[in-house]
Amino acid sequence: MITSLRGMNDILSDDYKRFTYFIDTATKIAQRYGFHFIETPLLEETSLFKRSVGESSDIVGKEMYQFVDKGGNDICLRPEGTAGVVRAFIQKKLDRAGGVHRFFYHGAMFRYERPQKGRLRQFHQFGVESFGVESVYEDANMIMMVSDILKELGIGYRLQLNSLGCIECMPSYRKKLIHFVQECKDTICEDCIRRLDTNPIRVLDCKNGSCQELYINAPKLMQNLCSECEKDFTTLTKILDDNAIAYEINTNLVRGLDYYSKTAFEFVSDNIGSQSAIAGGGRYDRLVEFLDGRPTPAVGFAMGIERLMELIKMPEVKKEGYYIGAMDDESIDTIIKVAHKKRESNLVIVDYKSKNLKNHLKAADKTNAKYCAVIGSEEMKNGTIWVKNLEDKTEKTVTLEDF
Ligand code: HAM
Repeated sequence: MITSLRGMNDILSDDYKRFTYFIDTATKIAQRYGFHFIETPLLEETSLFKRSVGESSDIVGKEMYQFVDKGGNDICLRPEGTAGVVRAFIQKKLDRAGGVHRFFYHGAMFRYERPQKGRLRQFHQFGVESFGVESVYEDANMIMMVSDILKELGIGYRLQLNSLGCIECMPSYRKKLIHFVQECKDTICEDCIRRLDTNPIRVLDCKNGSCQELYINAPKLMQNLCSECEKDFTTLTKILDDNAIAYEINTNLVRGLDYYSKTAFEFVSDNIGSQSAIAGGGRYDRLVEFLDGRPTPAVGFAMGIERLMELIKMPEVKKEGYYIGAMDDESIDTIIKVAHKKRESNLVIVDYKSKNLKNHLKAADKTNAKYCAVIGSEEMKNGTIWVKNLEDKTEKTVTLEDF
């Protein structure tokens, strides 16, 4: 038997209901915040991710589905959504147009990670990206939007916040951190030694317990921010306080993608095991420029749909639509015709096999239809149809015209 690839799942039946319920809810809320849908391709040039997510990141360094296509182009399946949206933003010259542009998207992302619970190789994200707003109020808006989506879905969370500083304060902090890490170079893990050369700040995110113990005494980003970054961070926390959104400041939260500056945040759940991040994002004011666009401030987030599907509290499913069946073979053509007409404005499930009323009622129940409608020889003769309301259990026979 051929099975799906490791870490790549089918989504059907009840899972699909959760999946679409999530997307419908998140879409509704993103639209309330003034965001518009954008679709970008699953395949992009590999260089797009190298230049944005960063060559030193695990995503680009270890996890890309990268290959050369028949035309000799170095391409890859997108590991995340931001880079493609930024590419589209520049390609459509929206950076030159100026003004504010707000997009949301959802779709499959691909990372060649070791599959485990909550960690897939093909997974789905819902994300938003906002361009052209420098104000930290937009960062707060992002966080409030995630919070609104999670609230609507009945999902509890912990919000972790950090500021990664800007071009003013980050370089001097980097120097201090490198100095600190070099002092303990003999005791840190190999990954951290590599990070020291590629992207030192990522040592703070190391999962190795003994490294983490050493870094407790490392200089803290939060204590090395310039006055503007500090002011923005204070404003952000005030807005969150004013709007009753609880947060924890995590000075080690550096995120796994290189494009962030200033605000970084992650929403985590304590109910889904070790892969606990359910959403993450932050500001990336320099990325548009890095990818050859006009300097444009930007901020965004993405939510992991599969992780959220485990947590969603689904609303009670209401019975809906019609189940239509025939009690003998002669009535089948008529029910097809009746169903076709009824489908102009209703959900209709048709059973093509004739059977007795009891079996039709049983089958109708399984489809979750609100009405079971049946035609037999008697109804054929009179031009009628027998209808039972499966909620209040009332029954009646009506003319086909009235039906
Ligand atoms: P990210 O933190 O890499 O950020 O991914 C966002 C979310 O995708 C995670 O919080 C997690 O829920 C989900 N996720 C990531 N990897 C996997 C996986 N292997 N299996 C299942 N779920 C996963 C980004 O991708 C950024 N583009 C977010 C962003 C948008 N920043 C600014 N704008």
